[in-house]
Amino acid sequence: MTTLRSVKGMKDYLPKEVPAYRRIEEAFARVMQRSGFREMRTPIVEPTALFVRAIGEVTDVVEKEMYSFQHHDEALTLRPEGTAGVVRAYLQNNLGNDEPVTKVFYQGAMFRAERTQRGRYRQFHQLGAEVFGDPSPAADADLLVTLVVFLREIGVSSPEVILGSIGGKATRAAFRESLVDFLTPKLATMSEESKRRILTNPLRILDSKHPGDRAACEGAPSILDVLDADDQSHFDALRRYLDALAVPYRVDRGLVRGLDYYSRTLFEIKGATEKLGAGDTLLGGGRYDGLVEELGGRATPAIGFAAGLERLVIATEENVAPPRIDVFVASEGAVGRALALANELRSHGISVECDGRGASVKAQLRRANAVDARFAIVLGDREVSDGVADLKDLAARTSTSVALSGMAAAAKAGLEGPPAAGEQAVSS
Ligand code: HAM
Repeated sequence: MTTLRSVKGMKDYLPKEVPAYRRIEEAFARVMQRSGFREMRTPIVEPTALFVRAIGEVTDVVEKEMYSFQHHDEALTLRPEGTAGVVRAYLQNNLGNDEPVTKVFYQGAMFRAERTQRGRYRQFHQLGAEVFGDPSPAADADLLVTLVVFLREIGVSSPEVILGSIGGKATRAAFRESLVDFLTPKLATMSEESKRRILTNPLRILDSKHPGDRAACEGAPSILDVLDADDQSHFDALRRYLDALAVPYRVDRGLVRGLDYYSRTLFEIKGATEKLGAGDTLLGGGRYDGLVEELGGRATPAIGFAAGLERLVIATEENVAPPRIDVFVASEGAVGRALALANELRSHGISVECDGRGASVKAQLRRANAVDARFAIVLGDREVSDGVADLKDLAARTSTSVALSGMAAAAKAGLEGPPAAGEQAVSS
């Protein structure tokens, strides 16, 4: 029989790895809440039409990377990103009615059928946030400074903020024309895909990795040169705020992002290139002032970002110790009583592993060491009838006789500090 394996690009997160993920998830929730964001969760599966309309029909994500399927008469897709679902939920639940500015964050699995490499998977996790209802450059600056604080807090020492603008609707329409004029004479050396996209979505060509496309785009006009007055003053104000907040950044005149919903501010943050190589974009985001309206809502300015959790874990590469077992209860015959004792200790907030396999005491204590337990108790018929058992300190290699009725208190005291002076410790 062939062995079943996980789907290509979808990995297991093993117990020894998960603490590093959890550390970052918890730091993210902490930092975002500190900046006034509240958590929300949306479904993993959404109508395919949502992503086509939000992300754009002529994008890599929609054309090539979505996991889409038909279920009865519904066309559905595993979410490739979080923004579209959050905007749908914002509209469906009238979140904008509760307060003029809505700030949410989310964490969860996303799916893109991409070519896999280090830091690029087909199932991955994003930590993201969206702000609705605030058109000001101050909102952009506040989001960026929050992100830099978050990255530093988890140990990305020098995050590199890359800033751009893609202008508003009018700016983009004018830019599109000048880009088409610039690229048309070079069409012969460009990819088939870009030859098609020059008619449908020429801005996407700036994002292409194809060597012919890259060469053709060299010296292309920058949208930063054609920003209209409002776009320009938004961009300038954002830069002033970032300078005042001492957030280092560099302007990338050619920055475009792979999703069509953006307007005005665009940004990416890179870091730990030595560990991540080409996939060193830790997060990306920007303003999308037109999307809420495009999906059927009132005109509502918005900005957000998403970070790749796996990339953050690689970038910080911190070995996080798994949580310890406080007490290991080994049993010598008295399994039922051992289970009861274990659960009594757990009810006091102590983490307990109880071995009911019927293995030898020696084998059970070997396991106590293997799971890195702090204390062990061996419970046999004698201990049950005497109502007293030894609380063994596995690190100090000492043991103390304790009444079973006081075991939780003794274990707690032992966990909270070194043995008190004068406490009777008997060598085991
Ligand atoms: P995105 O740039 O497509 O933006 O993805 C954001 C981040 O998700 C990337 O910078 C990367 O860290 C991570 N990521 C993307 N694809 C993969 C993958 N295949 N494997 C591992 N990590 C990946 C968005 O998704 C937008 N929704 C961000 C946003 C929110 N813009 C406004 N609001």
